[in-house]
Amino acid sequence: MWKKYFNATTTDEVLQLIAKRGEKTRVVAGGTDFVLEMKHGAHAEVETIVDISRVPGYDVIRLDDEGELHLGPAVTHHHCVASDLVRRYALPLAQTCWGVGAPQIRNRGTVVGNLVTASPANDTIAPLMALGAKLVLASVQGKRVVPLSEFYTGVRKTVLRRDELVVDVIVPVMAENQRGTYQKLGLRKAQAISLVNMAAILTFDGEMVKDAVITLGSVAPTIVRAEKAEAYLRGHVLDVETVNQAAELASESARPIDDVRGSASYRREMVKVLVRRGLAALAGGQENAQLPDDPPLLWGQNAKISGQPFAQSAFIPQESPIKTTINGKEYVFENGHAKTLLDLIREDAGLTGAKEGCGEGECGACTVFLDGKAVMSCLVPAPRAHGAEIVTVEGISEDGELHPVQEAFVEEGAVQCGFCTPGFVMSSVKLLEEKPHPSRDQIKDAVSGNLCRCTGYYKIVQAIEMASVKMDAKN
Ligand SMILES: Cc1cc2nc3c(=O)[nH]c(=O)nc-3n(C[C@H](O)[C@H](O)[C@H](O)COP(=O)(O)OP(=O)(O)OC[C@H]3O[C@@H](n4cnc5c(N)ncnc54)[C@H](O)[C@@H]3O)c2cc1C
Ligand code: FES
Ligand code: FES
Repeated sequence: MWKKYFNATTTDEVLQLIAKRGEKTRVVAGGTDFVLEMKHGAHAEVETIVDISRVPGYDVIRLDDEGELHLGPAVTHHHCVASDLVRRYALPLAQTCWGVGAPQIRNRGTVVGNLVTASPANDTIAPLMALGAKLVLASVQGKRVVPLSEFYTGVRKTVLRRDELVVDVIVPVMAENQRGTYQKLGLRKAQAISLVNMAAILTFDGEMVKDAVITLGSVAPTIVRAEKAEAYLRGHVLDVETVNQAAELASESARPIDDVRGSASYRREMVKVLVRRGLAALAGGQENAQLPDDPPLLWGQNAKISGQPFAQSAFIPQESPIKTTINGKEYVFENGHAKTLLDLIREDAGLTGAKEGCGEGECGACTVFLDGKAVMSCLVPAPRAHGAEIVTVEGISEDGELHPVQEAFVEEGAVQCGFCTPGFVMSSVKLLEEKPHPSRDQIKDAVSGNLCRCTGYYKIVQAIEMASVKMDAKN
């Protein structure tokens, strides 16, 4: 893992660090891609991490006077889901972000990190390309603006230089006569990368399609445009025949490969299905349907788009201690800088409630609250805890009493082997803090990042419902 870790506080600091240390330095935002890749043995040359997740202003989404949206480099998927601006002016991006991973991943993973990782299966590329997004790349030498359509040169390859930082994503807002959608097919509903994805932005003249942009993901080394389908759609009304014909033509633009998730022929067929589904949704004015109005974010009561509650940003050379608060108590760790937060909590703080199920962000057994939000601690670098507030399952109850969620899990029989239970309890506690009376769908969404290998899901959902009633009775 890394040897040095900097919690950056300004853009200048980041640019100086990446300019000076070259190949051996890497920027990390949420770390959900990079930490996992390091765990798998990649990036062995990297010695220094520059964490940009707490640079002030980096998590802001704003609309400028020219009608363009700006996403800062630390804007997470959940920031986009929660943003009225994104929902109103760039709906396909909000839909996309809602389908990434699971709540704990969306609380850390950023849009920029997703774009830079540059896997053709990464979800945000297709919608942002369809929307005509541009990236602002900064280095100590200055800035350049690169259209997203010119950013990618191959699988996981971009024009970004090692000394450059993406400081802004510029998204032209959709006009009054434009409507768009994003469709994704994964092997399951949560925690699944795209087998195929598509985004469409149509410009209408009354009922007629005046212009069309359709982008396809996970079917070629980079995102591709379905140009034949786009050309065909221009001048047509979106009736059943037009939708079907456009879907056929779109599949001709796909150049998929066989891999473990699906064969090339299956993917090509699924392009047709997704394009048909997306265009049919637009024809029926249903493009909004798949994005819930009030989704659980696992932010608790501190749900904010910007200005996340962190105590202070800090600069930590490897040697200086990590000073953090866990369950309201101050801790100073002299060692453990090269660990994950999960290992720091378990091995150095001796709090073994959070579990390591997969160590890869997939199972949720390691869920803790970082600055008020539920995250997968197995993918959080330990030095990110400096100046932050952590809550583990040991910290949710008061006065030696069980938390109502814990009581309900016991009473409903929602615990079998119990390995997943701390993670489920943490997600449930955050959900009920945020939404005291959640619907079944909200409960399912909230725990979609938690896996129970004993498959006790019905009991778990019932326990969360019971906990809601118990908490009402207490208040
Ligand atoms: C369990 C799990 C499920 C997932 N599900 C999905 C999914 O459904 N869909 C999907 O698309 N992805 C998914 N991912 C991948 C990942 O979560 C996303 O790609 C996420 O958006 C990455 O953002 P990050 O901030 O965590 O990136 P990081 O890991 O911090 O960084 C990723 C890369 O971007 C670089 N980088 C980050 N910020 C900048 C910047 N400002 N300037 C220059 N370089 C930068 C880093 O150096 C690194 O190379 C999943 C990951 C996990 C672990
Ligand atoms: S998600 Fe962290 S251990 Fe599985
Ligand atoms: S109770 Fe066994 S893993 Fe969930």
